[in-house]
Amino acid sequence: MALSAAIILAAGEGTRMRSSKPKVLHSLAGKTFLERVMASVGALDPATLAVVVHYQADRVSEAARGYDEHVTIVNQDDIPGTGRAVQCAMRQLGEAGKLEGPVLIAASDMPLLDTVTLQALIDFHTQSGNDATVLTANLADPTGYGRIIRDSDGGVLRIVEQKDANSSELAVHEVNTSVYVFDAAVLASAIQGLDSKNAQGEFYLTDALETARATGKVGAFTAPDALSVEGVNDRVQLSNLARAHNRRICEHWMREGVTILDPSTTWIEDDVELAEDVTLLPGCFLQGHSVVASDAVVGPYTTLIDAKVDAGATVERSRVQESHIGANANIGPWTYMRQGNELGEGTKAGAFVEMKKAHIGNGTKVPHLSYVGDAELGEHSNVGGGTITANYDGVHKNRTRIGSNVHVGAGNLFVAPVEVGDGVTTGAGSVIRHAVPDDSMVYSENTQHVVEGWKPEWER
Ligand code: UD1
Ligand code: CA
Repeated sequence: MALSAAIILAAGEGTRMRSSKPKVLHSLAGKTFLERVMASVGALDPATLAVVVHYQADRVSEAARGYDEHVTIVNQDDIPGTGRAVQCAMRQLGEAGKLEGPVLIAASDMPLLDTVTLQALIDFHTQSGNDATVLTANLADPTGYGRIIRDSDGGVLRIVEQKDANSSELAVHEVNTSVYVFDAAVLASAIQGLDSKNAQGEFYLTDALETARATGKVGAFTAPDALSVEGVNDRVQLSNLARAHNRRICEHWMREGVTILDPSTTWIEDDVELAEDVTLLPGCFLQGHSVVASDAVVGPYTTLIDAKVDAGATVERSRVQESHIGANANIGPWTYMRQGNELGEGTKAGAFVEMKKAHIGNGTKVPHLSYVGDAELGEHSNVGGGTITANYDGVHKNRTRIGSNVHVGAGNLFVAPVEVGDGVTTGAGSVIRHAVPDDSMVYSENTQHVVEGWKPEWER
């Protein structure tokens, strides 16, 4: 059954994160909690997707709009609590038009919440003919969570918060995940009578479940995968969840034929794509939409950010961002590829080489200590150590063009804009300021002066 609305609760400060940033804008594997939850909930295609904001409301709502331009922003007032958040949302959504049918509510501090789990909850809710269903989880350590209290027949009675629970309630391992499906009418009436007579002095949404029992059928659905519904309240929980998530991603890729020497130091974000027979050595961060083709070896200690690495290439102890590394190219160690590089097949960018918007033709090598920025190099050229393209005149970025089969001597300086033809050889230490024609040799004189018998002042 289609959702009439989905309400994501994102108004809390997240005090336990001890951060100047709202909790929901913290990230797990490169995406904020809010982005993740909005994507999982949004995939259910609710008629209205609402996000409740209050703490740093501008910042959170701007982020929410960035993730989904059609999102409805609800401003919670100064009264705190998850129950108040839903009261504010229901008032606003009700004003926009009558709500009918199921409404999904989800906290936004559960970054691994996934659409499959949510769909299973909705299906269970519908098939059971429930008016309210809470998504629960069985946790080995339920500390901090609200506990699910059931009657002797196994029916859900109510939810008790950790801070309000007695010792027998604290012993319960089934917890509230803060995800619910309510019938809109039942929800509207159940949240009317909320109060703040509890340990935290807040309007608890959890109390609405108990109230809903008076007018409707209440049930619970246990998440098949507890990890997917774990909440993050502090940075210890964040780290644990991120590690567990990463472990799963690594195991997925290992099963797909990727060798990962040390999954505990290999961090792979969700949208990365790896081919069979890729090898990942320890200490790597594979981020964004990075794509690595078969037989490539990445690492140790390498960061790829939206990078494309073709078959058989190696990238060692380097950082590669928004760049394309051709087949069988060798990058590193200690190479810094900034955005916009296109390296052809069999190319090399060696130690302490920095590149930006460089197009390097097949077989061309830049082996040592160089900066190549805003440059085009042809095929099978070699660039001597310590060569710099001076691409910035203080106002404009200018391009350097170097042809194919060029031998650039050590320590050259190309003052852009400048163009060097094919088959050129340049002398060591040349400063190239003007165009050099094909098949020529170029050097620039810098006179060597020797002062014989000279001593420093202190020695004289
Ligand atoms: C809540 C539940 C608890 C459950 C746990 C699961 C209540 C009273 N308790 O506790 O039963 O086990 O989640 O993680 O609901 N929020 C608002 N407005 C507010 C306060 C919070 O929108 O005034 C939002 C937060 O941004 C967050 C979510 O609601 O996304 C949960 O808030 P949080 O303070 O983390 O609740 P817990 O104490 O974890
Ligand atoms: Ca929480």
